[in-house]
Amino acid sequence: MTTNDKIVIDDVQKSFGNVHALKGASLTIRPGEVTAIVGDNGAGKSTLVKCLTGLYTPDSGEIRIDGEPVRFTSPRDARDKGIETVYQDLALSDQLTVWQNMYMDRELVRGIPGFRFLARKRMKDHAAELVSQLAVNVPGVNRPVKRLSGGQRQAVAIARGVMWAKNMIILDEPTAALGLNETAQVEDLIRRVVAGGKTVLVVSHNFEQVKRLSQQVWVMRGGRVVGGTRTENVSGEQLVGMVTGAVSMVE
Ligand SMILES: Nc1ncnc2c1ncn2[C@@H]1O[C@H](COP(=O)(O)OP(=O)(O)OP(=O)(O)O)[C@@H](O)[C@H]1O
Ligand SMILES: [Mg+2]
Repeated sequence: MTTNDKIVIDDVQKSFGNVHALKGASLTIRPGEVTAIVGDNGAGKSTLVKCLTGLYTPDSGEIRIDGEPVRFTSPRDARDKGIETVYQDLALSDQLTVWQNMYMDRELVRGIPGFRFLARKRMKDHAAELVSQLAVNVPGVNRPVKRLSGGQRQAVAIARGVMWAKNMIILDEPTAALGLNETAQVEDLIRRVVAGGKTVLVVSHNFEQVKRLSQQVWVMRGGRVVGGTRTENVSGEQLVGMVTGAVSMVE
């Protein structure tokens, strides 16, 4: 994948036993934009994200990047293509420190073959710099993640995603646990990612945030994408109506 590639999700279905979480979901993600997905609890948003990132394998349907069908069999496949994901159910390791989490599986090494050392200082310094940019009050990168608050953990997960995303970042409810100031910081960070030419997919229940951040919004209901529109064409109120089904889709 590159920063110029369009992503198409085409009629993806996914069941868990007899729970039909995705009943044929289709949407398009344009490169270099913020695309938002909205929908009530249980609509299938996180499941769709996980199908896109290789955490789940779709039962049917296709995902195409720049017209080419892709089949990610693990999140590592997506990461190798420069796609980072900040999951709603955060995937930080409790026992590790903040900086170790940020470099998990991708430690920097220094030295010469046979005498390799982890570049601990470089990793710590860089992690500290990124976390401080988020202005969420994370009390130091040497602290184990299990001793952080929910909002602080979310900030670390976002900083890690932003740090490694080469082409695209996917954020599933990134500001759900954050206060007003922290939310504004994360939104700024997302704008910077897009200004850098990268693609962003964000799942959010915050319609004002969707209005502020995104160029395109897709609405999910009952395992389907029931419509989508350019964000500038809808109000926050119309979005609420589209999610509940009270208002039909604006095109
Ligand atoms: N691993 C799983 N096993 C069984 N059922 C699941 C699993 N993951 C999701 N589901 C079910 O699939 C449906 C869609 O869930 P999903 O998490 O995608 O919703 P969501 O739109 O992200 O909701 P929320 O806004 O609450 O995060 C729900 O009915 C949920 O209970
Ligand atoms: Mg979800």
